Amino acid sequence: MSAAAPVVDAEYMAEIERARRDLRALIASKGCAPIMLRLAWHDAGTYDKKTKTGGPNGSVRFPQEYSHAANAGIKIAIDLLEPIKQKHPKITYADLYQLAGVVAVEVTGGPTIDLFLAGRDSSVCPEEGRLPDAKQGASHLRDVFYRMGLSDKDIVALSGGHTLGKARLDRSGFDGAWTKDPLKFDNSYFVELLKGDSEGLLKLPTDKALVEDPEFRRYIEIYAKDEEAFFRDYAESHKKLSELGFTPP
Ligand code: HEM
Repeated sequence: MSAAAPVVDAEYMAEIERARRDLRALIASKGCAPIMLRLAWHDAGTYDKKTKTGGPNGSVRFPQEYSHAANAGIKIAIDLLEPIKQKHPKITYADLYQLAGVVAVEVTGGPTIDLFLAGRDSSVCPEEGRLPDAKQGASHLRDVFYRMGLSDKDIVALSGGHTLGKARLDRSGFDGAWTKDPLKFDNSYFVELLKGDSEGLLKLPTDKALVEDPEFRRYIEIYAKDEEAFFRDYAESHKKLSELGFTPP
């Protein structure tokens, strides 16, 4: 079931600004930017453009979805956001999760992302298996992201989200961070990818697949050299991800 879309009027936007301040404070005090970004991406990344199902609709808050293997650990982010939802009940979960993702990127030094709001909440959870599997390769990444309606450039730019955070053995079976400063949003994910294996840093099979694929590698080389270009493309791709399934005005 989908709830009605929120009416995005001046009052809603004022509430969004208040929630934005609460999110900045939460992220600063808990150092939880990485898992906030992962939550926003996992809510959105189930979108299927053919059936118009999944996507950024808050459905990841239900046990049926957050218990999917790819979502291990995501409940921590859901629980951290619940008090902010209670304080700003007018804001939908869909919008709150996407807002948390863009605030996470901004406060760690990344680009400002222009967020289209009015996400309606849904209690229909997509079937398991729509998020990418880190053990696979380039064709799997294309299958998953093309299903959402995203492009090769989006795949590489958004993978730059791994500039933040780390993997944990008890969640994904992988261990470690992709960059030396996992609380700073910059282009170091791409710089490290081109260096090859660096001691102590993580490369998922899907990360390695990006470097080996000539079309993906083209973007990696640009982003490793030019952080501005990465920020520009990242902001554009993240905006697309956050509005999958809506028709922005
Ligand atoms: C973490 C896989 C794309 C943001 C992870 C982890 C895996 C993974 C296995 C570790 C989870 C854990 O052990 O806690 C993938 C794969 C992707 C992908 C296969 C396909 C391209 C993305 C995208 C974003 C993103 C598009 C955001 C734009 C993150 C963040 C973390 C993370 C921020 C760290 C979370 C934390 O530190 O708690 N990802 N991911 N990922 N992912 Fe991805």
